[in-house]
Amino acid sequence: MTPTEAKRPLQLNDNGQLRHFLSLDGLPRELLTEILDTADSFLEVGARAVKKVPLLRGKTVCNVFFENSTRTRTTFELAAKRLSADVITLNVSTSSTSKGETLTDTLRNLEAMAADMFVVRHADSGAAHFIAEHVCPDVAVINGGDGRHAHPTQGMLDMLTIRRHKGDFENLSVAIVGDILHSRVARSDMLALRTLGCRDIRVIAPRPLLPVGLEQYGVKVFNDMNEGLRDVDVVVMLRLQRERMQSGLLPSEGEFYRLYGLTTERMKLASPEAIVMHPGPINRGVEIESAVADGPHSVILNQVTYGIAIRMAVLSMSMSGQVAQRQLENEAGEQN
Ligand code: CP
Repeated sequence: MTPTEAKRPLQLNDNGQLRHFLSLDGLPRELLTEILDTADSFLEVGARAVKKVPLLRGKTVCNVFFENSTRTRTTFELAAKRLSADVITLNVSTSSTSKGETLTDTLRNLEAMAADMFVVRHADSGAAHFIAEHVCPDVAVINGGDGRHAHPTQGMLDMLTIRRHKGDFENLSVAIVGDILHSRVARSDMLALRTLGCRDIRVIAPRPLLPVGLEQYGVKVFNDMNEGLRDVDVVVMLRLQRERMQSGLLPSEGEFYRLYGLTTERMKLASPEAIVMHPGPINRGVEIESAVADGPHSVILNQVTYGIAIRMAVLSMSMSGQVAQRQLENEAGEQN
């Protein structure tokens, strides 16, 4: 490892460009804005008759999802195809992982097939970071969600949705509601909102669903949904993550919905122009009423569309950051 590599954050190259996309933690506002601007330019590609640009022609993107996914996996696949990459999606449930092959061995084998990028979802927090530390130096790693830790492309597609519907972040009030404790989306959203200058970030949840250390995100915490929703411009609802929850953490789904469900009646507390977001999958009648999920305030399906553009931006920017890093290292080698 060179001294520069020792100092530089893992996900950036020596010029401060993205080379992996693992977390929004520590990424500067300029870089997040560049991702949003690049994604904005890619939205037009999705409206073309031939939805393709040649930016990743000749590159191989490998989707490796160790947890279930509908939106993230398919939109990464579409994003890579729209960039003209070759795409492999490994179905982990039918792969040799079930025969005991380790994560590292699985990835080593995919590297041997000359994969240029891995998009990884894993139940363990830190899995994407671990992989980025251990792959060949030319391979870019993109986090498609790791445990409770981070879901950075979801965070960025949420920011694109907010910016396109509500404009700049400074004067917005944004409420994030529900199962904050288990939510990697909440963590990525809070980091992105803070970095992009949002001054009123509210977190609304029952005490058992609040993690410790929320003060680092500069958020205001509300246990009363009716109080927290007052005059907000954006409501981000979260799914109750039963699969990550210890039994007895919540009394019942009915009680949760009564106190924290987003209903038509409760939406009257928010700004009249407020938007409603949800990363999906939605549990109708558990955290959100169908009339709200499908109603005039909802931009939930727009989030999915914007997700393709964000993933195109992250894939293309990370690949160019990797190529630029290789050139920098070659030039440094020639001078020595
Ligand atoms: N928002 C999200 O991550 O959805 P999937 O689990 O379907 O990918």
